[in-house]
Amino acid sequence: MKIHLVSGGCGFVGRNMVKRLYNTTNDTILFIDNLLVGKHPSEWLPEAKTGDNKDIEVFGDGRLLFLKEDFREFLRNATQNDRYIQDTYGLEFDKFTDVFHFAAIVGGRATIDGDPMMVAMDLAIDAEFFYWATRHKPERILYPSSSAAYPVDLQAEGNAIALSETDIDFKKMGEPDMTYGWSKLTGEYLAHIAAKYYGLSVTCIRPFSGYGEDQDLTYPIPAIAARVARRENPVEVWGTGLQGRDFVHIDDVLDCIFVAMEKIKDGTAINIGMGRLTTFIEIIETLCKIAGYKPEIKRLLDKPVGVFSRYSNMDHVNNNLGWRATISMEEGMRRVYEAALEKEGEKA
Ligand SMILES: NC(=O)c1ccc[n+]([C@@H]2O[C@H](COP(=O)([O-])OP(=O)(O)OC[C@H]3O[C@@H](n4cnc5c(N)ncnc54)[C@H](O)[C@@H]3O)[C@@H](O)[C@H]2O)c1
Repeated sequence: MKIHLVSGGCGFVGRNMVKRLYNTTNDTILFIDNLLVGKHPSEWLPEAKTGDNKDIEVFGDGRLLFLKEDFREFLRNATQNDRYIQDTYGLEFDKFTDVFHFAAIVGGRATIDGDPMMVAMDLAIDAEFFYWATRHKPERILYPSSSAAYPVDLQAEGNAIALSETDIDFKKMGEPDMTYGWSKLTGEYLAHIAAKYYGLSVTCIRPFSGYGEDQDLTYPIPAIAARVARRENPVEVWGTGLQGRDFVHIDDVLDCIFVAMEKIKDGTAINIGMGRLTTFIEIIETLCKIAGYKPEIKRLLDKPVGVFSRYSNMDHVNNNLGWRATISMEEGMRRVYEAALEKEGEKA
């Protein structure tokens, strides 16, 4: 029996990964989340046919096992006792097959700039995670770094370039984006050490701005889509709106993860993006075109906006992994807009 572990499994990327694994394999998935920001699975998974097993809640056909726990607590217990899960929760299995480590403090720009020390807790989560992984030795590990790990001076107005994997070099470092970028960069280093010194199979990804229909409203795309679905006029944008990102749909992010895990084992990180820079004004215009109205745009200049331009060079992934994103920005915005419209309808 294959059993996969998804930490942060009730967050945005985690939820999508749990559903993907459930729908595309016959494997069992244990997912752990302290619900700090994650949504309880009863909101997004089919009801369990089986009853609860101690603290583990079961969903779907019985292959979806949810544990509400602080992941660090779990890691500490599991490091001390290799039979922790068997002994405590009565689950009989040997080793995790794939481990997807999404538990993190993220929270969008307001948290990254507004509470950097809380975000720095990611250093603790990642250190405990890799320590446990070197003891437990799962078959494969996915570590999500971020485009925030790239040096910020390569993303400034007038100086921004399409960021390539080689723009991060542990021997010649630039400055990443706040504590979030530093912790992701440190996580990449731990991934590299885990592969090199402990022989683990680790894949690192640097997603650019992942978005999707069920993303939290603290992120720009769903927030703007909700404003447009309410047909607000003016539509507010943080900053001038001329700042740009490389928006990539979550379904594409997941597709790329599975390709990368087959091909990369040594902790090397790859970009996941469209390779396209889109400004927030363009996002508003695209969403308004889909909605069929033309509002004023109100710029909120006192809001935090982060770096000016952050986008990927996808040449390495396109050419060496043979992967490219398939969901266009316009198609992705249409999906997010329709989901926002539905949510507004439910509220009414
Ligand atoms: N979403 C993106 O576009 C994107 C881009 C780059 C990198 N990433 C990375 O992917 C990962 C997941 O991001 P996300 O967007 O899903 O974030 P998210 O905030 O939606 O999900 C993180 C989840 O972790 C949980 N969590 C936090 N601390 C925990 C703890 N101590 N124990 C157990 N659970 C805990 C939260 O409750 C939440 O459900 C993060 O590492 C993030 O840095 C995401």
